[in-house]
Amino acid sequence: MTIEDINFLLSEEGKKLIKKIQIQYPEGRFTTAATLKLKNIYPNLNIRSIIELLTLRKSAKLKFSKADNMFFTKVGLEQSTGERVAEYVAERFSGFKKVADLTSGIGGNTIAIAARTKVLAIDSDRLTLDIAKENAKVYSVYSNIEFMHKNAEDTDLGTCDAVYIDPSRRVKNKRTVSLSDSLPSVEQMLPKILSHIDAVGIKVSPAISYEELEKLPYNPEVEVIADEFECKQIMLWFGILKTTAFRATILPEKYTLETSHPSKHVETSTPKKYIIEPNCAIIRSHLIDEFAQQAGCKKLDPLIAYLTSDNLPVAVGHQYKGYEIISFSRFNLKKLKKTLSEMNISRIDIAKRGLSQKPDEIRKKLKIKEGGNFSLLFMRIGNRHYQAITKKVPQS
Ligand SMILES: C[S@@+](CC[C@H](N)C(=O)[O-])C[C@H]1O[C@@H](n2cnc3c(N)ncnc32)[C@H](O)[C@@H]1O
Repeated sequence: MTIEDINFLLSEEGKKLIKKIQIQYPEGRFTTAATLKLKNIYPNLNIRSIIELLTLRKSAKLKFSKADNMFFTKVGLEQSTGERVAEYVAERFSGFKKVADLTSGIGGNTIAIAARTKVLAIDSDRLTLDIAKENAKVYSVYSNIEFMHKNAEDTDLGTCDAVYIDPSRRVKNKRTVSLSDSLPSVEQMLPKILSHIDAVGIKVSPAISYEELEKLPYNPEVEVIADEFECKQIMLWFGILKTTAFRATILPEKYTLETSHPSKHVETSTPKKYIIEPNCAIIRSHLIDEFAQQAGCKKLDPLIAYLTSDNLPVAVGHQYKGYEIISFSRFNLKKLKKTLSEMNISRIDIAKRGLSQKPDEIRKKLKIKEGGNFSLLFMRIGNRHYQAITKKVPQS
């Protein structure tokens, strides 16, 4: 979208037209014929940008409960923190007088924090900030926010007692995961901010390297946040916002597992009745041993994130995926194909750990569809590869 497009969408005329077209096309689906028809009805107006917005609103429903009334650019939506995660992250800022959100974007985090306290919302992109203002009105938190079009680096944080940063992670339109590519530069800003504000939260990619995190000054808490079974982001908590060394949090249950002192490695065992795969947040935060201990499981291999147990751990929601073992054998696709056919299994999901072949390559060789109640798990144990035909344990 161009600057003119966004200005038009945010104008009173634009808003009226958006409403009208949204009522006509409640599904947000625009065929070529529908687009042509609209262009004929409104020849002098920018219909393309309205269609783009309404299409974005449709996909934004996965992230925002009020998406139907919000404004987005494609990049702004992609970069935004979804409501559920933003709400959870904002909870840690309750109790502060005024939080500076130095990279407001289209307002994902700003809005959630502003539902709890005052916010100074900064963005270097004027249009994105204009969009955040409209979105703040949709969530009725506008009066709690002071918006400023500025570079984060030049902002006077004098009135704020906590800071949130969710930097852009794009270099020449390509996504990157490293903090050293972040805009604004977290590496440059962090020491300055922490010298007078002892409460900073920074969102980073869930794919950031741990080596990079280890090199960070000030030793932050590293919190990996998953929404159901998807790792969404890592939060780095500095100063008084830090509560532990490593934390895994799983939404929507808000189940959280943390440690300041990594526990002893749990023992390994041959496969028992079940294979247990901890949630990606637990795996990514290196809290597998802590989880295994709490859940009464053993590991199949010290370095592989599949656990095993004769009993299913008591858990709510998305802490782990459970698989009941039907057969467990050395890796051999030919034999496996035969067994699956003898068992009349025509659909099966495939997951693997410690095996270089990709699930899609294996699926092609087995000529089997995905889905159904069974899962094939491939794994390395010691220096050998194994395969398990399993039945998925229904989610509690
Ligand atoms: C990842 S997005 C923030 C998304 C936001 N947290 C949300 O949930 O909608 C990063 C934002 O940082 C802004 N930005 C980039 N460089 C900046 C700088 N130097 N100062 C302030 N904002 C900057 C970009 O315009 C972009 O809107």
